[in-house]
Amino acid sequence: MSKKISLSGVKPTGRPHIGNYFGAMKQFVDMQDEHQSMVFIADYHALNFIQDGKEMKQKIIDLAIDYLAIGLDPQKTILYKQSDISEHTELAWIFDTITTMPYLMRAHAYKDAEAKDKEISVGSFNYPMLMAADILLYDVDVVPVGQDQKQHVEYARDTAQKFNHTFGQEVFKLPEAKILDEVAVVPGTDGRKMSKSYGNTIPLFATLDEITKAVMSIPTDSLPVDAERNPEEDNVFKLHKLFSKSDELFNLREKYEKGGMSHKESKELLIKNIDAFIAPLREKRKLLENDIEFVMDVLKEGGKRAKMKAEKKMEEVREAIGVKLY
Ligand code: ADP
Ligand code: TRP
Repeated sequence: MSKKISLSGVKPTGRPHIGNYFGAMKQFVDMQDEHQSMVFIADYHALNFIQDGKEMKQKIIDLAIDYLAIGLDPQKTILYKQSDISEHTELAWIFDTITTMPYLMRAHAYKDAEAKDKEISVGSFNYPMLMAADILLYDVDVVPVGQDQKQHVEYARDTAQKFNHTFGQEVFKLPEAKILDEVAVVPGTDGRKMSKSYGNTIPLFATLDEITKAVMSIPTDSLPVDAERNPEEDNVFKLHKLFSKSDELFNLREKYEKGGMSHKESKELLIKNIDAFIAPLREKRKLLENDIEFVMDVLKEGGKRAKMKAEKKMEEVREAIGVKLY
């Protein structure tokens, strides 16, 4: 039986954090053996936020390095950047024509921006249609993402159905989001969802200094050390869950519940464990920084492979909508 197709992407909008990693990027790596895996750099999505050519270029290269440093293997995963495959934006246009404004106005991201009285670009408003095109172009089965992207994957499913229904042909497959419960929403240092836009992150390739600063800034309760605590209400413990082995976590939980765990002790252990986890990733990233030519070759090659698939699918789409004459 042929392997299921998985696809996901991240916007090149700055250093990824451990929420991006555990919520989404780690899954990309874990899935690359069992799936026909595709991972891309969502640069045209990022254009809604980054409008400086030099900065964009650097951020694209940085994300390509990040992907390789966490263990994506170009022999197993087709790694590419969105802007190399013009079929993404072409298909997004076709989806725009079968989609209504009220339907797009229901998107959480749009509603949030409106509630904050933010100016919204047409590109941001149409974001779900470009994302639907990213996914539907490749007959994708599963889309590994964090919880906040669930609605976007639903938009892609709805759009596939709408297209198939409108043109009377099963051109598009319906994709499923893959969200891991325990890391669906990784908390940031302030207890809210970890997010670049909240400034509450622990960067995935952080230095020991950055890790220390971030962990030390986590607010904690002011109960005495020997008080009994519910670990599930403690932001430091929530992060321990990501970095501890199960026996270590068991002991930690017990110490929280019985009393006797100081915030200082808990934080110092967390810093040590995060650093032990990140150190090899930092090393690998440094090596790749010195081999940009290799990184570029990976993107070029991945782009070629993705393009072939996208071109084939677009032939089917053009045939279905009736613009293909010869
Ligand atoms: P940010 O909110 O930091 O800008 P992105 O929107 O670039 O993050 O998200 C990239 C990927 O990481 C998406 O799949 C998203 O669902 C996932 N993700 C982002 N933040 C978290 C988090 N705190 N917990 C789990 N997954 C997350
Ligand atoms: N919207 C996603 C994010 O903000 C990035 C993205 C764009 C994506 N296109 C996608 C994710 C297709 C999965 C599949 O993180």
